[in-house]
Amino acid sequence: MTNTVEAAISPEITPEQLRGQMISELKRSGDLTSPAVEAALRKVPRHEFTPEAPLERAYAAYDAVVTKSSEHGVAMSSVSAPQIQAFMLEQGGIGPSMRVLEIGSGGYNAALIAELVGEDGQVTTMDIDPDVTERAQRLLKQHGYTGVQVVTGDAAVGIADRAPFDAILVTAGAWDIAPAWRDQLAEGGRLVVPLRVRGLTRSIAFVRRGSRLESESVRVCGFVPMQGEDEHHTQVLLPTGTEEIGLKFDDEVMGDPSDLDNAVKTPRVETWTGVTIGRQQPFDTLQLWLATKLDGFCTMAVRDDLDTGIVAPANKWFSMAAVAGNSFGYVTWRRLEGDDGGVELGVHALGTQAAELAEQVADHIRSWDREQRGGPGPAFAVYPAGTEDDQLSGERVVNKRNSRITISWPAA
Ligand SMILES: C[S@@+](CC[C@H](N)C(=O)[O-])C[C@H]1O[C@@H](n2cnc3c(N)ncnc32)[C@H](O)[C@@H]1O
Repeated sequence: MTNTVEAAISPEITPEQLRGQMISELKRSGDLTSPAVEAALRKVPRHEFTPEAPLERAYAAYDAVVTKSSEHGVAMSSVSAPQIQAFMLEQGGIGPSMRVLEIGSGGYNAALIAELVGEDGQVTTMDIDPDVTERAQRLLKQHGYTGVQVVTGDAAVGIADRAPFDAILVTAGAWDIAPAWRDQLAEGGRLVVPLRVRGLTRSIAFVRRGSRLESESVRVCGFVPMQGEDEHHTQVLLPTGTEEIGLKFDDEVMGDPSDLDNAVKTPRVETWTGVTIGRQQPFDTLQLWLATKLDGFCTMAVRDDLDTGIVAPANKWFSMAAVAGNSFGYVTWRRLEGDDGGVELGVHALGTQAAELAEQVADHIRSWDREQRGGPGPAFAVYPAGTEDDQLSGERVVNKRNSRITISWPAA
């Protein structure tokens, strides 16, 4: 009875309280580390920049607020999750008096940047979609951020007449680095971009050193894809003999679908690695390790409505995978008995060289466990397309339209 009365008379939670809770959570998770970004998050009323969402949803630390969807219900624009905004602002190292370009305009993040650069700074936000820029412009104006310049246009060309920028924050998933982003960045300036390399997206903070960009920090993230001139579609290789399996190649496609013609008819080889992952333990650097080590690295998605039993991945939507000759394999896991949520990693492979491929992938998983697990992860560098091989350093080179990206692994 007492509880019911208390619940009935307790005042509703205020936006300020929700904002405080959001900030506490972001500090706890390690996404928010600097007093400057904290002060900006505390000051700007996120819920007033996300009128599309109920109050509590606006302050949910890990949720984006979708502001525009396609006719098929796919998100085209959003105000990103506070977690992602916080760590990208930290990655950008944005401070007083800086000149900053934000690519992708939700309004709220531009207001945070305006708080960070202060009155002597300069903020430009651009979006390809006029509905998005109209919305951002209106909300920024309503809240007194009249100094933020909102521009409608394709990020592929950047904004030369507002350059050079001390920081460029790209907030749509990019497959390549537009030359304009490097050229419009001041020497030593930072480009923070959710970049897809071999199908894996990471928010990477790059520092400009002449014509090269060198990574400084790397974080896991997800974003709506870039549209316009630099839009890029993943290629899907469908092994014949079943409609169930899609092997996704985001950069070069290894092999021909017909190479895998008979793979699904062979018995599945299963190998276990002895490498275990505890509940909630990250293994994002394993993904990048396999993407570096395996020439035929790809990702695999399996149709949920077909279950032929040919493959049995632990994750049907996204598995690390590889193709070699007329065989393919994927990484899976099995629960450890008596362990609360822990798993052991394994490899399944099909095709005439399945056993060799499974063993090769398993060996790389073991070497990651021995040499890199818990380490800082790889470094990335971006060179202009056309840079000669002997000018590149790194263990894997990924060729894009405008750039050559290298991945190297410092000794952990
Ligand atoms: C995740 S939303 C931006 C979020 C925003 N920065 C925030 O949280 O406040 C991504 C935006 O990128 C935009 N976008 C996609 N491709 C673009 C391009 N080529 N040039 C400029 N904007 C683009 C989309 O229209 C979309 O509004």
